[in-house]
Amino acid sequence: MALSTFTRRSVLSVTGLAAAAVAGSSFLSSCTNPGQQTGQGSIPTSEIPVGGGIVLTKGKYVITQPTAGQFHAFTNICAHAGCQVARVKDSEIQCDCHGSRYSITDGHPTHGPAVRSLTQYPVEVTGNRLTVEPTPLGGGSASPEASASASATAGA
Ligand code: FES
Repeated sequence: MALSTFTRRSVLSVTGLAAAAVAGSSFLSSCTNPGQQTGQGSIPTSEIPVGGGIVLTKGKYVITQPTAGQFHAFTNICAHAGCQVARVKDSEIQCDCHGSRYSITDGHPTHGPAVRSLTQYPVEVTGNRLTVEPTPLGGGSASPEASASASATAGA
């Protein structure tokens, strides 16, 4: 079974002061390795802040850790209209395009306009590293919900 994975290089944002400090130093060191620009690899669990998460830009995931040792992966594509979500902050996955917010625990929308959950992916933790299985769990949709109602949101 192949695992889809990612690198520290692909991390866009991190919440949590301790995690930001840890992540910042390791992100800088990994930026010098051009071989990691493909988004392949695994990520240290220590880079996922407890009570928060990170948005990966080279991969397609948001990785969260609502409580210590409990990891979740979701698509980083907003279920509303397909923007890449911006960050994990205040225990929510946040999209800046139209203001949708999602739970870091199960990806359900906590604030609209999104009404569908983020697609969730299985996470595998081996030792202190984490990888994401590319086959989504049941539930959310990889397709933005707005694709079916684009005429109602013209200009968005
Ligand atoms: S695309 Fe994310 S809120 Fe609209």
